Amino acid sequence: MSDLIRPHDYPRSSRYDPGWLVGLDMGPNPLWLLEDLSRDLELKPGMRVLDLGSGMGATSVFLAREFGVDVVAADLWIAPEKAEAVFAEAGVAHQVRAVSAEAHALPFEPESFDAIVSIDAYEYFGTADSYLAYITRFLKPGGQLGVATPGMTREVRDLGAIPPHVKALVGWEAIAWHTADWWRFQWDITELVTVTSARLQENGWHDWLLWSRACLEHGATDRDVVERTIAMLEADRGEYLSFALVSARKNAAPAS
Ligand SMILES: C[S@@+](CC[C@H](N)C(=O)[O-])C[C@H]1O[C@@H](n2cnc3c(N)ncnc32)[C@H](O)[C@@H]1O
Repeated sequence: MSDLIRPHDYPRSSRYDPGWLVGLDMGPNPLWLLEDLSRDLELKPGMRVLDLGSGMGATSVFLAREFGVDVVAADLWIAPEKAEAVFAEAGVAHQVRAVSAEAHALPFEPESFDAIVSIDAYEYFGTADSYLAYITRFLKPGGQLGVATPGMTREVRDLGAIPPHVKALVGWEAIAWHTADWWRFQWDITELVTVTSARLQENGWHDWLLWSRACLEHGATDRDVVERTIAMLEADRGEYLSFALVSARKNAAPAS
């Protein structure tokens, strides 16, 4: 567990109990991803933030506590009551509201958020060409979109195949794991947003490995998946795998 406390790299995340975090595990350390992503965002107290694909809610707790923002935690697979229990225990229930929502049919008014963040979830719903236009409807002009999503150093399209060690774990789903340049172009070309940062985490594969080993050691429920994730990352050694951190601001609509 001590591998999960890294004040030098992740000072804010290191203040959270790793046992608490591992107990909410749904994928690579969501606080490290969010803390790194937040370096490219401007989050200020009182802002209204959508945490899209919030899972068990660790990232929503972090947003509320670290930045003093009001959070809507929206997720498909986790019932809101389950996330609400996490928010109550963390003492942020007054700042975070849990909502059951599908990412293509969101129950919100247009322009109702200052920022939308999505940690290890956007790969499930956000890679279609039309999705950026849909999701940015919910941002105020100048509002920020920040995504942390599994990424690759090379496009699968350019490699001509999904690398075998990646395919062994996730199969075709890896076609949604893009390079930082892919994301930058995909978003910038629309002129709906201005990309402020698009980068791969330098040692993203290693962070992911540390997290997976800690989960295996400390009671991961789906041990087979965690073991196969570790095998994938050990085989990769950072050649292809990381996380893409992509941030943008919504452009004002062109005058008609
Ligand atoms: C790998 S989990 C990550 C959860 C959380 N962000 C974290 O990092 O711990 C992916 C999350 O994306 C959510 N998700 C997947 N497809 C979705 C969709 N179409 N609409 C809304 N949420 C979705 C799932 O419910 C799940 O909680």
